[in-house]
Amino acid sequence: MIITGAGAGIGLATARAFAAAGDTVVLTDLDISAVEAHAAALGDRHVGLAMDVSDEAMVIATIAAVAMRFGRIDVLVNNAGIVDPNASKVLDKPIGEVRRLIGVNVDGCYVAAREAGKVMIQQASGSIVNLSSGAALSALPGRTPYSMTKAAILGLTNALACEWATSGVRVNAVLPGYVRTEILASLERAGKFDPSVAGAAVPLGRMAEPEEIAAAILHVAGARHMTGAAFLADGGVAAYGGREAASSAPVSGCVPKGTVLVTGGASGIGAAVADHFVRLGAKVVAADGDRHAVAALPDDRIGIVLDLTDEDAVEAAVARIAATIGPVAVLVNAASVDDAARPTIDRSLADFRRIFDAGLTAAMIAARAAARAMAATGHGGAIVNLPSGRAASGMPRGPANSAAGAAVSMLTKSLACEWAEHNIRVNAVVSGHLEVLEAAELEPADQRDLHQPRSHVPIWRPSDPADIADAVAFLASDAASYVTGMSYPVDGGYSASTRRFRTDS
Ligand SMILES: NC(=O)c1ccc[n+]([C@@H]2O[C@H](COP(=O)([O-])OP(=O)(O)OC[C@H]3O[C@@H](n4cnc5c(N)ncnc54)[C@H](O)[C@@H]3O)[C@@H](O)[C@H]2O)c1
Repeated sequence: MIITGAGAGIGLATARAFAAAGDTVVLTDLDISAVEAHAAALGDRHVGLAMDVSDEAMVIATIAAVAMRFGRIDVLVNNAGIVDPNASKVLDKPIGEVRRLIGVNVDGCYVAAREAGKVMIQQASGSIVNLSSGAALSALPGRTPYSMTKAAILGLTNALACEWATSGVRVNAVLPGYVRTEILASLERAGKFDPSVAGAAVPLGRMAEPEEIAAAILHVAGARHMTGAAFLADGGVAAYGGREAASSAPVSGCVPKGTVLVTGGASGIGAAVADHFVRLGAKVVAADGDRHAVAALPDDRIGIVLDLTDEDAVEAAVARIAATIGPVAVLVNAASVDDAARPTIDRSLADFRRIFDAGLTAAMIAARAAARAMAATGHGGAIVNLPSGRAASGMPRGPANSAAGAAVSMLTKSLACEWAEHNIRVNAVVSGHLEVLEAAELEPADQRDLHQPRSHVPIWRPSDPADIADAVAFLASDAASYVTGMSYPVDGGYSASTRRFRTDS
């Protein structure tokens, strides 16, 4: 793998994370002596090279040399970036300063992606991770050039993801919040940045360590069904909509070992998630309303029959789990019911409520019961919701699941902000799998072919429940310690593309 700006900060932490995962790392930076020393410290097979990302000829030559030397490039992390040294109004910004930021942050990212992309397209595989920022989503006062260049990276990421999906090349962006690196330390030394003010704006109450962002980058680089995603690692900043300080005290964000409770865990995606945690060595409880499916569960997990819309029953079950197996440290809300895809005008309110309750109310009941238990241990935990149906867009003849999906996405953000103080991280995995299957349900049966490219899914293949389980396990792990309040897309780039997108193959 090759990484830009690896001389310090997030870049260096990322180089170390990839090396520890067994990859051969090419560290590049303006500062050749730094990357040579870091590469040598990582071991013989790693290399440090000088590369100024704002120098197109140098990027072309360096990436060609790396491809020649190693025969392939599997991962590019476009990390090099600079911030405008002085916060000032747009009317006062010298255009030279704006051009300098565009040259490093946008041109550098574009040229390195283009050159590595050529190699990856030829080898029919590869993964590019571009470092954007939370500043891409909301303006940083006085730092318009930084915000706009980081927003440009999101647009570039989407476009490349859609263009290269059928060539086997995935392109994603990681958006860190405030990270304890030199970029902010220099502003702090100059009296232009106050870490305590920054920490108060973060639901988790603290800045990230570079290693926490590196863990997110490593995961995104290998997430095989993710492309065109804007992956937030911001301690919940983007999820927070309040005016008061988002937090009063820092929390560690680590997930303790304990019981994993999976609702809807006896079949479908819930069962795949339960399988995954069992393989990871966790104590797993699968709670499901289907008694036959529960009875058929293997011995390596505990199955309980539970009506997930019955609050008293769910509270009692969580208390029983704590007393007999160990407190719930991870809750995965995977239960859902089928929406019969009937025309909305023919539905009763009771039918709408039944489906909506199973999607939203059940998730909230389980989350509250688990959060009480997690807060009581003092160690916190992780909750991962799997919103049913389309969380972000409407589905004809699926009003209850669409409404519940959108509501669960907002519930996720709200709970992430409210429960950060208890060290409980709350995230969602938004699957394209169900969307594709549901869309297919709307087509005449004889025209359905789930193995043919669909015009609006850039990476064409139905997502494997194992991809969803992998995403859930990441969000529940310590590696995601700075990730809360985010929606993790496992959708093959669906959310990054427009419906008019067409694959060439
Ligand atoms: N630190 C944060 O709070 C934060 C938050 C959001 C996003 N980010 C982004 O993460 C990335 C890394 O940030 P960081 O905090 O580790 O920064 P940093 O300043 O600690 O390190 C940046 C590295 O990039 C190198 N670099 C600068 N210009 C370069 C160029 N033209 N060519 C090659 N290398 C160059 C520097 O030499 C340095 O080694 C940046 O893209 C930044 O915008 C950082």
